[in-house]
Amino acid sequence: QKRIKISDLLKEAPIGKEVTVMGWVRTFRNNQFISMNDGSTINNLQAVVDFQQMPEETLRKITTGSCLSVTGVVVESLGKGQSIEVKVKDLEIFGEADPEKFPLQPKKHSLEFLREIAHLRVRTSTFGAIYRIRHSMIYAVHSFFHERGFYNIHTPIITGSDAEGAGEMFRVTTLDPANPPMDENGFVDFREDFFEKETNLTVSGQLEVETACLALSDVYTFGPTFRAENSNTSRHLAEFWMIEPEVAFCDLEGLMDLAEDFVKYLTRYALEHCAGDLEFLENRLLEEDKSKPQQERSTMTLTERLRFVSENEFERLSYTDAIEILRNSKPNKKKKFQYLIEGWGSDLQSEHERYLVEKHFQKPVILFNYPKNIKAFYMRQNEDGKTVAAMDVLFPGIGEIIGGSQREERLDVLQERIAEMNIPEKDLWWYLELRKFGTAPHSGFGLGFERLIQFVCGMGNIRDVIPFPRTPGNAEF
Ligand code: 4AD
Ligand code: MG
Repeated sequence: QKRIKISDLLKEAPIGKEVTVMGWVRTFRNNQFISMNDGSTINNLQAVVDFQQMPEETLRKITTGSCLSVTGVVVESLGKGQSIEVKVKDLEIFGEADPEKFPLQPKKHSLEFLREIAHLRVRTSTFGAIYRIRHSMIYAVHSFFHERGFYNIHTPIITGSDAEGAGEMFRVTTLDPANPPMDENGFVDFREDFFEKETNLTVSGQLEVETACLALSDVYTFGPTFRAENSNTSRHLAEFWMIEPEVAFCDLEGLMDLAEDFVKYLTRYALEHCAGDLEFLENRLLEEDKSKPQQERSTMTLTERLRFVSENEFERLSYTDAIEILRNSKPNKKKKFQYLIEGWGSDLQSEHERYLVEKHFQKPVILFNYPKNIKAFYMRQNEDGKTVAAMDVLFPGIGEIIGGSQREERLDVLQERIAEMNIPEKDLWWYLELRKFGTAPHSGFGLGFERLIQFVCGMGNIRDVIPFPRTPGNAEF
């Protein structure tokens, strides 16, 4: 008999019909009630066995984590929590799970513990919900751009360029690190490497997607990016996914509009398409809140927060105005704000960003016109000679979720800037040619996909929104 997914079964509720369902056992109560899940929905199906008919041997194998197929008639359920159930006629066990050894038991496991069993944590309700939402958000990203006539461009993962110039790249080489060939000056000779030059895993697809932008006008790339930054925070991964639109004939203002529309679309999409999973995660957070002191509890539920973002205008203000606000803010008793010492020109720390978003404005904030000295070489310089047309979107609980800018399209200004920053022009010859031949005003940004998922799912740690987090010391799976 053909298998039916639990999501379809619960939707259709074909009372009286015989169905076959396959999935993993969550719990087995009273030798009678199997609660099982096949990943198609947050909801479990109840399958009821007649233990007097079932061999003792089989009953013993129905344990949490085991995988099975049940066939039986759909009936109305008298029990709490479900409207239908399946009266089991046939049951086949695909895979047992020794209860003495299977690490997931029907109790609450900590997220820290679950991180150590990344290969199994997807079988919990929490991670099932997160991965389904992650999928929906991937789909929504492509829908958003497709609806607006953007083309998706695949940019390379192995690259010779460093877009961000932050020196946080993973080297890719076929040379033997223990015994690399040397050139006449005593440096590693990459001419003998597979690519005949030094290559890295990309930190951003931006520079390459700009080439497509200056031909197809509206483009985006959505791919994995890599940063060898040795930071152990709840918002940084060494491998994360980034969505990077690049738009021709668009200035900073237009870019901020696009960024705001984009995240509003995504949060609205989640509310409309992931209701069941969001409800589960919302309750999870409410539970978590109960163990916190009053002042640390969230003032909004998860769905209220998503609705708030999708319905309210973001605050837009310049970096300079932000510094003024921070300067006039009451200093946090524990940690004094750092730029009270450093002043204009210093980069904002995440606690400053969070102050602006969570305390001062209490809504998402777009900061723009940052000092040029703290930003990448490709950002367009403003008339004041001090700032660049950059913008960051800051979110509650997350901090920076988007970073972008208008690009420097003037060849001479760009050349001057890369010389100032000691970037060898020969490494960027092709990028400079974009300015030499048919240059155009254009802008783009990058949205950190995992930070978005953190926000949508209400997860405090970025390691819990990607199936296999890569962080310092963590590449087991
Ligand atoms: O601000 P970033 O470094 O900007 C760029 O890479 C630009 N080239 C984007 C562009 O204009 N096309 O990174 C963009 C976003 C950040 O706002 C953040 O959300 C995310 O990527 N991000 C990270 N997410 C997880 N782990 C990390 N280590 C991240 N670094 C950046
Ligand atoms: Mg940034």
